[in-house]
Amino acid sequence: MAIGDQGRTGFRRRAMAIMYDRMMRSYERFMNERKAALLADVRGRVVEIGVGTGANLKHLDRPDVEWVGVEPSVPMRIRAEAERVRIGISGRVVNGTAEATGLEDGIADTVLCTLVLCSVDDVEAAIREMHRLLRPGGQMIFIEHVAAAPGTWLRRFQDAASPFWRWFADGCRCNAPTLEHLEGAGFAAMELEHFRAPAGLCAPHVQGVAIKPN
Ligand SMILES: C[S@@+](CC[C@H](N)C(=O)[O-])C[C@H]1O[C@@H](n2cnc3c(N)ncnc32)[C@H](O)[C@@H]1O
Repeated sequence: MAIGDQGRTGFRRRAMAIMYDRMMRSYERFMNERKAALLADVRGRVVEIGVGTGANLKHLDRPDVEWVGVEPSVPMRIRAEAERVRIGISGRVVNGTAEATGLEDGIADTVLCTLVLCSVDDVEAAIREMHRLLRPGGQMIFIEHVAAAPGTWLRRFQDAASPFWRWFADGCRCNAPTLEHLEGAGFAAMELEHFRAPAGLCAPHVQGVAIKPN
């Protein structure tokens, strides 16, 4: 499906798309080297889920990368497509969700997903869909913020603030148990690194590379 097809267009979504890059500027500065290193060896067809404004595209600017972005928000899709064209990466952005991308089985050498699973309603369905998109031996690369450790002050704060945060941040759950879903998802191998990013309630992060079995 093309930009402009039915999708999420509410006021908060438009506002989020307009403000997103400004809100994320210092976060992206902090993440720049980390993302560059994580994505340096990515080649072939990359399916990126929940692309937002296309913040990861600059790390994929190689002639042997073809990028297919999946994004349910119309204003985000428009920005991501503009960024793709500006950088000059071959590919397209389509209307879809993590749970239902509408793409063919096994089309991805890499599935990329950053700061998305916290907003997805059915994380298990989304991970099943990513498995389906990956060719055997393909890799899922992710950077997600995760719930703080149980019993910590940050976790109590995340739990208390979660309903407001979810409303404010377009469905994002600051206390999402994303890592547990990923660890139970049947990947053949998974490299993980935990770190903290300058993201307030969403500071605890995990990045990883998970390989689909052959
Ligand atoms: C916090 S932004 C992250 C954007 C981008 N991945 C980045 O790292 O800058 C979350 C994105 O996920 C999208 N999103 C929300 N629910 C989704 C779903 N169920 N499937 C796919 N994307 C979704 C939002 O529209 C938004 O663009």
